[in-house]
Amino acid sequence: MDYTKKISHVASTIKPSGIRKFFDLANQMEGVISLGVGEPDFTTPWKIREAAIYSIEKGKTFYTANRGLIALREEISNYYNRRFNVKYDPEKEIIVTAGGSEGIDIATRALINPGDEMIILDPGYVAYEPAVILSGGVPVHINLEEKDQFKLTPEKLKNAITEKTKVLLINYPSNPTGGFMTKEDYQKLVPIIKESGIIVISDEIYAELSYEETPASLASFPEVRDQIVVISGFSKAFAMTGWRLGYVLANPVLSKAMCKIHQYIMMSAPIAAQYGAIDGLRYCQEEVEEMRQAYEARRNFCVTEFNDMGLKTFKPHGAFYVFPCIKSTGMTSEEFCEALLNDQKVACVPGNAFGESGEGFIRVSYAYSLEELKEATSKIRIFLDKLKKEGKMKD
Ligand SMILES: Cc1ncc(COP(=O)(O)O)c(C=O)c1O
Repeated sequence: MDYTKKISHVASTIKPSGIRKFFDLANQMEGVISLGVGEPDFTTPWKIREAAIYSIEKGKTFYTANRGLIALREEISNYYNRRFNVKYDPEKEIIVTAGGSEGIDIATRALINPGDEMIILDPGYVAYEPAVILSGGVPVHINLEEKDQFKLTPEKLKNAITEKTKVLLINYPSNPTGGFMTKEDYQKLVPIIKESGIIVISDEIYAELSYEETPASLASFPEVRDQIVVISGFSKAFAMTGWRLGYVLANPVLSKAMCKIHQYIMMSAPIAAQYGAIDGLRYCQEEVEEMRQAYEARRNFCVTEFNDMGLKTFKPHGAFYVFPCIKSTGMTSEEFCEALLNDQKVACVPGNAFGESGEGFIRVSYAYSLEELKEATSKIRIFLDKLKKEGKMKD
């Protein structure tokens, strides 16, 4: 049977992730050092693992309420309030999801009608555009620029909003750029959001991993609080990628609509992960802070190294990625990553995997030990020195 004819239009339309494509290539080679994966190298803090193990030992192996364990929703509500001074009702405004990924999906599906425009940032996380397409929406890209440190400026937002715009999806601190929005940066967007009446899905999954500045949230502006849908989770700051746990905070009417979708596609998030996360929020701030400090030291190392070897790299203020500019090599992002992989067996992700505006950049994850980062960057330096010797690199 020719299955290509059986696949739905939307499933045929969405492209496989550019990250995966590149890693399939890398996986075919021996001894590759990867700086490609956006996943903490730390094991989940012991207190979380212990609470989850204990819950299993006690036979807590069932579905939970669709929205998640009430004790966890209460902890999420307190945690968010502690950090951003915004209260969400655990009964009506919080859903515990299977990762931030599910949160992005159910928020988009609950808001988008066929033909609605949803603005996404470019470069941006690979799952956003498929989420819009799978909902029948029309993705509209805002091209972010390095000169603005990849921030969303009020001018860019104003220019992108049309009568058909329903939703804006933002993500700060950003994957892949490490771009950061301060409270003052958000303040400038607030009147535009208020006036246009659009809904903003704010993916704040990296907010705990902020360095120079205090993380901010659009939800903390009372004028627009009701228009903001917060996506967050445990994968990054709590080193819990494999547990599949996240949450969505939103207005009660929207939350109810999202919960219907969640109920049918997921039923509930994994129960052991939920028990672990309760203790994570209660008792693991020290561990989260230790990991944050380790990432900060690695970021400092990477920014210095890449700039020193001739790849202009701005200092990101959050998440765990640097986004060096490779335009001086005259290669495209894909050519650069392929040549680097073949020559030095170091895998990075081509910037164009995150959208057109990522062309001319590579994404380097520093969720790796300093030793690994040192080894990988010394190999990248050798690769660049060869290019310089061959006269292929502009100063
Ligand atoms: C910006 C962003 N949002 C969401 C996710 C999804 O995270 P998870 O589903 O593991 O919570 C990721 C994962 O890389 C991400 O980088």
